[in-house]
Amino acid sequence: MTSIVRPIEWAGDHLRLLDQRVLPHEERYLQCRSAEDVARAIHDMVVRGAPAIGIAAAYGLVLAAQRDPASYDAADAVLAQSRPTAINLRWALERMRRGWKARPEAATLLAEARRIHEEDLAQNLRMGELGAALLPAGARVITHCNTGALATGGHGTALGVIRSAYAQGKLAQVYATETRPWLQGARLTAWELKQEGIPSALLADGAAAYLMSREKIDWAIVGADRIAANGDTANKIGTYSLAVSAARHGVKFMVVAPSGTFDLDCPEGKAIPIEERSARELTEFRGQAVAPAGMSAINPVFDVTPAELIAAIVCEKGVIERPTRRAVATILNRP
Ligand code: MRU
Repeated sequence: MTSIVRPIEWAGDHLRLLDQRVLPHEERYLQCRSAEDVARAIHDMVVRGAPAIGIAAAYGLVLAAQRDPASYDAADAVLAQSRPTAINLRWALERMRRGWKARPEAATLLAEARRIHEEDLAQNLRMGELGAALLPAGARVITHCNTGALATGGHGTALGVIRSAYAQGKLAQVYATETRPWLQGARLTAWELKQEGIPSALLADGAAAYLMSREKIDWAIVGADRIAANGDTANKIGTYSLAVSAARHGVKFMVVAPSGTFDLDCPEGKAIPIEERSARELTEFRGQAVAPAGMSAINPVFDVTPAELIAAIVCEKGVIERPTRRAVATILNRP
């Protein structure tokens, strides 16, 4: 089963992005006509989710090459700076640069961007099968943030496993955390789950430990923005707390991410750059103050889950159980 959501669409002379900031109440599209437009859309969360960011950036380079081939390097630089944690962004830009070096033509770049887009969907379908195979019949799972069709080239990573398990009839219940402060769980994951009639309920991020203490949950299933060489995994803020709670309650913890999410140049999680966004994302909600004027706030938007808390990393190349440095290198064929 693949999802019909099309968050990123190439439209010949521009990129059409579904504006994820206004979902689920409004389906608004944004037209990007330059790499700078795409970089702004990535920074401002119009398009988000590690694989989707990489795909959008690849099309951003096509726009630069169409407009002015001499602007390629500047476009690459502005896209690279749009968000720091998702390594899929750098991965996609490097892959596009190899294509550009071999043949500096917009049409060749477009073909490469389309391939990145299509391969992501194929990888997600494969990970869906592999991840679903780890779940018991009648599985009850919890997920965090949005890792579905909106965050990827289609189907999703963690949500792709959930979709595949549902299609196989082995999923009884999904719990989705709301995911403060951008509410990717409440707005986006809930929207995707409802569209497909997958049995699901929303809960506050802070309610996950309570839920695990009261109900049998089989797996926590999350995506990743960057996986270090030892398996430490950066993902949406709150993932680490979910993993700690899962360990406390005997809930298995699964990370689902394509091979483009691994960064073997990062030896461990501490080396992963963590994006900090404006304090206003916490002190305000949709422009309305929710904290006293002048209150300071810290807003790291990702955290790192240590490999020792992860039961399985599912990537399109296979499953790494109890991740170690050696197992990561072996599965990626980079010993
Ligand atoms: O800030 P976001 O919404 O881009 O964060 C998204 C996540 O943390 C996802 O879990 C991750 O990118 C994997 S998406 C398949």
